[in-house]
Amino acid sequence: NWHMEGFIEEQVRLIRETVGDKKVLLGLSGGVDSSVVGVLLQRAIGDQLTSIFVDHGLLRKNEADEVMESLGGKFGLNIIKVDAQERFLSKLTGITDPEQKRKIIGNEFIQVFNDEAAKLDGIEFLAQGTLYTDVIESGTDTAQTIKSHHNVGGLPEDMAFKLIEPLNKLFKDEVRVLGEALGIPHHLVWRQPFPGPGLGIRVMGAITAERLEIVRESDAILREEIANRGLDSQIWQYFTVDTGVESVGVMGDFRTYDHTVAIRAITSVDGMTADFAKIDWNVLAEISRRITNEVDHVNRVVYDITAKPPATVEWE
Ligand code: XMP
Repeated sequence: NWHMEGFIEEQVRLIRETVGDKKVLLGLSGGVDSSVVGVLLQRAIGDQLTSIFVDHGLLRKNEADEVMESLGGKFGLNIIKVDAQERFLSKLTGITDPEQKRKIIGNEFIQVFNDEAAKLDGIEFLAQGTLYTDVIESGTDTAQTIKSHHNVGGLPEDMAFKLIEPLNKLFKDEVRVLGEALGIPHHLVWRQPFPGPGLGIRVMGAITAERLEIVRESDAILREEIANRGLDSQIWQYFTVDTGVESVGVMGDFRTYDHTVAIRAITSVDGMTADFAKIDWNVLAEISRRITNEVDHVNRVVYDITAKPPATVEWE
């Protein structure tokens, strides 16, 4: 793709010119945007780049390992992985309000990141995967924030880094094309959006380790079944939710009283409006069967048939 090759050359030149022989820090989230920034910077300045990857325990199954293997292994990024699961979980204990969860996760993320950054010497620049859309959406003149997005503007005042935001003129699709041009695997680059607060907003109400396990395992089954059937390109985003509803079921000769998992799968162009995906019932039946069989403490699975609006994509 000549357009992206040109963009890459231009960015590599610009980044080298800006950075000189100084050091750059990057926060890797596991998402497409920060991954692309990481690989781009690695190409431009090699080991002048240090990346911090905070595992907040709200990632999907195997996601942390995949990030480390792909970006750390194949692309050779120098990544400091911080295992902060317990720190996040304890901060979130008993918190039920979605916006408060977002704030806590966002703030904690910045704190963990800062704690790690403070251990490093001589960093002058901070790289971020800010997109053009992020720039627009977090503009201060927006009348209303429907849900606060925590990836922009949360930097503390006393952080004297200069910012590098090589994607801030690009839309998501362009970032994906760029990612492929940089050699990042297709399935990583084209994967569905995943919110910053992660599985934390897919456990309705108070988060516990057990409930995170329910969404993580059921989500993995859903993703596997969708991928095996090649349906991922037709569905914009799909995930499971621990609804917080417990209901009566029966297993063998016994009555159960356990969790209800909801499947959310939508078609959309940009996430602003959406319709529920018309997944074949037989596929849904198989997913339901597997979730109730394989995931502990789930005895019921429901399918969300609501459009956006009036519902949002996420349940929180
Ligand atoms: P909603 O639920 O607002 O979701 O209809 C629209 C898209 O945005 C994602 N989303 C978020 N992404 N931080 C993020 O980075 C957030 O707090 C957040 N909330 C929602 C959601 O997954 C969907 O793709």
